[in-house]
Amino acid sequence: MDGVTVIGHPLVQHKLTIMRDKETSTAGFRQLLREIATLLCYEVTRDLELELVDIDTPLGPMQAPMLVGKKLVFASVLRAGNGLLEGMLDLVPAARVAHIGLYRDPKTLTAVEYYFKAPEDIASRLTIVVDPMLATANSAVAAVERLKERGAKDLRFVCLLAAPEGVERFRGAHPDVPIYTASIDSHLNEKGYIVPGLGDAGDRMYGTK
Ligand code: PRP
Ligand code: URA
Repeated sequence: MDGVTVIGHPLVQHKLTIMRDKETSTAGFRQLLREIATLLCYEVTRDLELELVDIDTPLGPMQAPMLVGKKLVFASVLRAGNGLLEGMLDLVPAARVAHIGLYRDPKTLTAVEYYFKAPEDIASRLTIVVDPMLATANSAVAAVERLKERGAKDLRFVCLLAAPEGVERFRGAHPDVPIYTASIDSHLNEKGYIVPGLGDAGDRMYGTK
């Protein structure tokens, strides 16, 4: 599908299967999410631009590649986005971080905002939005709208699991924002949960159910 990358790497798929299993502990789930995040980060950053710089190794001078431009921004959709954020920061520790506090109203499934903080100069930075679940896409669409209002222009969205309904809605609302995901599952159930999915990502990460 145009604008959607499904990351089929064997390590991602193996770890995702363990995360889906309802017997996996809270600690295990959180650790696996952090590990998968590093692998998703590797994929979403694989086309970043490099430039040659002059350095001296202990054996002499050379020109070697370094990333060009401003540090990127990771935008975490709270709460569960923080699980992906940790792994992303393991790989790109100098990145800037935005937080968007959203929760789904359980009746209407609309996204309710309770917090927003982003770097002032986000307009000049690549912004990678992270949230493990793309279900109805109400949260992701709202998060990207807020970031665009703040000035973000160059965005990518990373999740662990997506529903086909969410992918369609998100691509319709933000066709300029590519999606990276480890899986597109079967469908949403009547409560807006991804099937077969992995349950409620935030609750499984933090043991809150
Ligand atoms: C979950 C998830 C996404 C959202 C996805 O968050 O982390 O943000 O649901 O659903 P949607 O695509 O239908 O909007 P939730 O609202 O449960 O909040 P939490 O992360 O605080 O648990
Ligand atoms: N949010 C989750 O955490 N899981 C789902 O399946 C849908 C939304």
